[in-house]
Amino acid sequence: MSVLEAKDLTKIYRRGREEIYALKHVDFNVNPGDFVSIIGPSGSGKTALLNVLGCLDTPTSGSLQLNGTETNGMKETDLVKLRRDNIGFVFQQFYLMPTLTARENIELPLLFSKRDGNKSKIDDVLEMVGLADRGDHLPGQLSGGEMQRVAIGRALINDPKIILADEPTGNLDSATSKMIFELFSELNMKGLTLIIVTHNLDLARQVQKMYTLRDGQIVSCEDLACVQGRDDLVIQQEVVRA
Ligand SMILES: Nc1ncnc2c1ncn2[C@@H]1O[C@H](COP(=O)(O)OP(=O)(O)OP(=O)(O)O)[C@@H](O)[C@H]1O
Ligand SMILES: [Mg+2]
Repeated sequence: MSVLEAKDLTKIYRRGREEIYALKHVDFNVNPGDFVSIIGPSGSGKTALLNVLGCLDTPTSGSLQLNGTETNGMKETDLVKLRRDNIGFVFQQFYLMPTLTARENIELPLLFSKRDGNKSKIDDVLEMVGLADRGDHLPGQLSGGEMQRVAIGRALINDPKIILADEPTGNLDSATSKMIFELFSELNMKGLTLIIVTHNLDLARQVQKMYTLRDGQIVSCEDLACVQGRDDLVIQQEVVRA
């Protein structure tokens, strides 16, 4: 069963009389354990797609099933619960609370979901994101890469099925970006499903499947799993829509 199944998604933003088609008839399917990247020019609809897939925004039309549950027409309170139980978000700007330590930032979603925030769980996550010795640091006492690791830890603490990341390395230098992608890759090997929006083509190509968006449409889906480390193989490109 797909963990995310979007069919014929269209998202229209209305500004006065103007209608902006951010997404046009997008089909998108993600299986458990997939590691997917989304690239595309600025304004092509990447953030719009991620927000709809993560139930942060509703599509104008089309359907979205999350873990087998149809989200279309769902009450906001049920949607919040579905989102909380299934999805972790990571953003370019980290959005950490500056007055809370790394440990406290990671713990925050547990307080909202009223789950047991036992110490060992937070220690495990700190360890998982490579910050075992930085738990008591405030964001201002961390590097950019470390701040993003805290944000990834915060996304992981509720045991999501999927991580959605919108330009997670957009504010980081290339070496740090590579390390963050290595962390994503490690998490994927542990079974986590990841969807990453990025402008960095080198990083985007290190995943299993790379989608390209243009003008609100998916114009290609490249299956990269078969070419990891194999320069002699030609990337299989399936043109979904011309
Ligand atoms: N709240 C909004 N109201 C009106 N139009 C919007 C809104 N949000 C996005 N758009 C428009 O929808 C289109 C898709 O925007 P989106 O943010 O998804 O692009 P993007 O691919 O993420 O771009 P970038 O790489 O710059 O982040 C753009 O034309 C944008 O101007
Ligand atoms: Mg964007």
